[in-house]
Amino acid sequence: MNGSSTLVDNAGASQSRRVFWDQDVYQLELERIFSRCWLMLGHDSLVPKPGDFITTYMAEDRVILSRQSDGSLKAFINSCTHRGNQICHADSGSAKAFVCNYHGWVFGQDGSLVDVPMEERCYHSDLDKSKLGLAPIRVETYKGFIFGCHDPEAPSLEDYLGDFCWYLDTIWGGPEGGMELLGPPLKSTLACNWKVPTENFVGDGYHVGWTHAAALQMIGGELAGLSGNRADMPFDDLGLQFTMRHGHGFGVIDNAATAIHVKRDGYVNYLEETRGEIREKFGPERERLYVGHWNASIFPNCSFLYGTNTFKIWHPRGPHEIEVWTYTMVPKNADTETKRSIQREAIRSFGTAGTLESDDGENMSSATYSNNGIITRKGRMNSSMGKDREGPHPVYPGIVGVSFIGETSYRGFYRFWQEMLDAPDWAAIRANDDTWDAMWTNRNFWPDRLSAKQAEPQD
Ligand code: FES
Ligand SMILES: [Fe+2]
Repeated sequence: MNGSSTLVDNAGASQSRRVFWDQDVYQLELERIFSRCWLMLGHDSLVPKPGDFITTYMAEDRVILSRQSDGSLKAFINSCTHRGNQICHADSGSAKAFVCNYHGWVFGQDGSLVDVPMEERCYHSDLDKSKLGLAPIRVETYKGFIFGCHDPEAPSLEDYLGDFCWYLDTIWGGPEGGMELLGPPLKSTLACNWKVPTENFVGDGYHVGWTHAAALQMIGGELAGLSGNRADMPFDDLGLQFTMRHGHGFGVIDNAATAIHVKRDGYVNYLEETRGEIREKFGPERERLYVGHWNASIFPNCSFLYGTNTFKIWHPRGPHEIEVWTYTMVPKNADTETKRSIQREAIRSFGTAGTLESDDGENMSSATYSNNGIITRKGRMNSSMGKDREGPHPVYPGIVGVSFIGETSYRGFYRFWQEMLDAPDWAAIRANDDTWDAMWTNRNFWPDRLSAKQAEPQD
């Protein structure tokens, strides 16, 4: 498949339905996105001690992430260099070595080949073990979150996250200790394209009051007012939406971080107690984010909700299926009972059988499978909401949309998705660094809006 320029129309804010269905689009995604971007592997909290490991996926490649004896991290492909067998079948554990159960080759914690049964008799000194280690993967961490990347030319993780670091610092680097992940992950499969949940989490504030109308009424709290898209909803003052250079993005609903926490204790108190520290450390703009509820995606396939604190990796399994891995993200220095109560609420809402998760799953499958029709597949999908009511903001980095209910971060996600598919290498992507946001032509939107607001009479 050559290029993707007809798949995404940035100016017209539309995408071809083939992005959810075609096998050749998926193959190109594997080569140009999943082989070149930083992908979420886990968190320090999942591999705390030397020898600890977890197994995970980078797209469909099986991967081992292992804590070394010097405390550093290494990741490598979980497939034997002898005849390709999967080396480690456990989800997690602690191991001095990984032994292949086919013929018994032994790989060290660092992935090097350290022992071969009957080596001398079988290979007569002909086997160069130093060249037969498990294929290594670049590993870098940001605030304890561990990412892997196959491409040596990719930017550093911090540069890849780019402006998103400014936002992530608020929560991942927030109160001393930041956040950690509680595992092991819940795992389930869902019959949908991997981008449907990613785009939903990156910026779909629109579906919340409709898809989740019944669940929101039942949960009550701050979000109950969204249920059924009530006419008196304060649309533009509900929050904001953001997109960044490398397709990451999120939406925030103001003052709603703990909306799903029916019991108004542990986490609610924790946020109240720590918000002053955030204000001091990061200023009032980020304090606003700290007490807001976020729906976010880190390009390409990791999403989380801050406040609800579910944390997802959408592992693709072909174009029409994903394996959903669900962790809970908790403040590291909260007490154990608060952490457990956050986990309970996260699983109740966004675990495999969660009230809100099940609402979403049906739509995600349907939005994928309706494209199996040959005529349907030739059509396009629209993401124009909030177009021109967005732009560079004097305080918040990236491009900022005026409402939590908008499609700014959808457009930003697909803008970069197309750029990745079209670019032959990272050098070509870097060449666009100064012009990536040229499609947002309303440069004065925020300056004009903010000065108009300032001029409004105060009561
Ligand atoms: S396939 Fe692993 S030792 Fe032969
Ligand atoms: Fe949803």
